[in-house]
Amino acid sequence: MQPKKSVRDYIRTIPDFPKPGIMFRDVTTLFADPRGFRICIDQLLDPFADQRFDKVVALEARGFIMGGAIAHQLNVGFVPIRKKGKLPGATLEQPYLLEYGEAVMEVHDDALQAGERVLLVDDLLATGGTAEAGVKLCERMGARIVGCAFIVDLPDLGGRKRLKDLGLRVEALCA
Ligand code: PRP
Ligand code: ADE
Repeated sequence: MQPKKSVRDYIRTIPDFPKPGIMFRDVTTLFADPRGFRICIDQLLDPFADQRFDKVVALEARGFIMGGAIAHQLNVGFVPIRKKGKLPGATLEQPYLLEYGEAVMEVHDDALQAGERVLLVDDLLATGGTAEAGVKLCERMGARIVGCAFIVDLPDLGGRKRLKDLGLRVEALCA
């Protein structure tokens, strides 16, 4: 009998995308597989089984795919954090640096209430710039980040340490 595949086994690495030197972790192969997607969502939630959340907040774009499924499973609301210029209402803005560029993230300024307990999710943690921008946006509304969940952590790029240094709980399924 074949051994069961782990989440990591469903993810492929594509060299030199979107720029030379970047080893791009492609989670579309994980999401495309029904068992892969299911175990991914279940395993992301396992460490937080004893926690209560009010909202799942996810980062554009691949974070939305997991975030919607996680919010559905937790039976809580979903809040998107988007690249600048995509949200129709009044927003808060947060600039950030990426492994391969710079950008601005936005969230609707009424998306979270003060004191709400948030699970922040994204597919991948690299430098942590994107996640930190998301954390700052949530905290500017007075919400509390109970945990941050990622499928992939690239620890050599420092994101985990960066979020830990902010006092955040960080969980990831694979490196
Ligand atoms: C990727 C990934 C994270 C971010 C991680 O998104 O999905 O959001 O980079 O990098 P960091 O930890 O160095 O900030 P990307 O910017 O490629 O955007 P996309 O999901 O819209 O393609
Ligand atoms: N975002 C930043 N670095 C990345 C990588 N190596 N693979 C996929 N998404 C990323």
